[in-house]
Amino acid sequence: MSHGWPNEQDEDKKMLLDQVGAFAREVVAPKAKHHDETGEFPTENVKRMAEMGLMGMMVDEAYGGAGLDAVSYAMCMEEISAACASTGVIMSVNNSLACWPIQNFGTEEQKQKWLTPLATGEKLGCFALSEPGAGSDPAGMKLIATKVDGGYKLRGSKNWITNGREADTAVVFTTLDPTKGHKAVTAFIVDTKSPGFSVAKLEDKLGITASSTASLFFDDVFVPQECLLGAEGQGLKIALATLDGGRIGIAGQALGIARCALDASKKFALEREQFGAPIAKLQAIQFHIADMATRLQAARLLTWNAARMKDTGARFTKEAAMAKLAASEAAMWIATKAIQVHGGYGYTKEYVVERNFRDAKITEIYEGTSEIQRIVIAAQEFAAISG
Ligand code: CAA
Repeated sequence: MSHGWPNEQDEDKKMLLDQVGAFAREVVAPKAKHHDETGEFPTENVKRMAEMGLMGMMVDEAYGGAGLDAVSYAMCMEEISAACASTGVIMSVNNSLACWPIQNFGTEEQKQKWLTPLATGEKLGCFALSEPGAGSDPAGMKLIATKVDGGYKLRGSKNWITNGREADTAVVFTTLDPTKGHKAVTAFIVDTKSPGFSVAKLEDKLGITASSTASLFFDDVFVPQECLLGAEGQGLKIALATLDGGRIGIAGQALGIARCALDASKKFALEREQFGAPIAKLQAIQFHIADMATRLQAARLLTWNAARMKDTGARFTKEAAMAKLAASEAAMWIATKAIQVHGGYGYTKEYVVERNFRDAKITEIYEGTSEIQRIVIAAQEFAAISG
């Protein structure tokens, strides 16, 4: 289906979207209810996505990636997430938060060793930034890296880590000195098989139940010098630049959830009869559908705009925050309306909109809450006038 963006007319994009859309509808969607109910990790989906090049979409082909642009990535995130939002976030974290910082800040050796298996999907990645006492304010982190012979020792914990249970490779943010704020934050690439690393707790969540959200423990984990990502003290900038791209991925996920809720609502409105006719004939329902479709398309265009800016190489911090803010709030609003259109049926697990409603909520929280996105947007607006 076309959504009216010029790039969509590219033959390559059309083929990609046809292929990914068919995979999402035929393979991912039929099992989404099972994964939601059981919390079972969608191993088969991830394996198939790896074969299709969806786990390292924007990574150079030289490192096993698909070498595609961010607009294609946002579009594919929508396709996969419209079928299963858990599968969507697993894909998003691997692409945006694990591959991207290594591709952009890693040495040639690090790219060969760590990026290639992540991009081909042979391995799975996670991004370990948040801590129990440092969520919206990551500069307040406590996980300490101490310099030792040949490298560093990491001690402390991380939480809210998507893919934390399954990840083979973690991009981990630490502090060299908790009294020095963001100037001491330092990033590492960590092999999760390292002695002293453990997965401590799995969250029992409202939605996206088939993706793991874990706490990670680092009990004097030795990390060799060659696993330092970027320079000492550059870590928070790496994290925030990475999250700019991550927010496009989550916006794409939110679009997919919202589209699923809208499509289900249209179908239901055409089938459900009240007052002697399908409820789609009622203006009250038509207004809901019109508002849902308009908010979805506005968010989609903001998301594609942020992705297009990323592709040009321009700074896209504000555009990504706007996209994530608009798409996540649209998803929550549309999913709420979708339940309203379905009436009592929408409040039951028999209809997909109940899952959409639970899955939508997290998009307003992770990779920066809606309040954080507003802070980022306002800071960029003021920066623009103060030069
Ligand atoms: N790109 C590159 N560098 C950036 C940047 C960006 N987008 N934004 C800021 N920086 C730089 C700044 O220039 C500054 O460097 P200098 O001092 O050298 O100038 C440095 O980073 C610190 O910037 P700020 O002083 O603006 O930072 P701050 O501490 O005030 O925080 C913030 C700003 C917007 C609140 C930021 O901390 C933020 O986005 N917080 C939310 C964090 C977040 O999204 N967490 C989610 C974790 S991931 C997740 O959800 C888990 C998962 O697995 C899905």
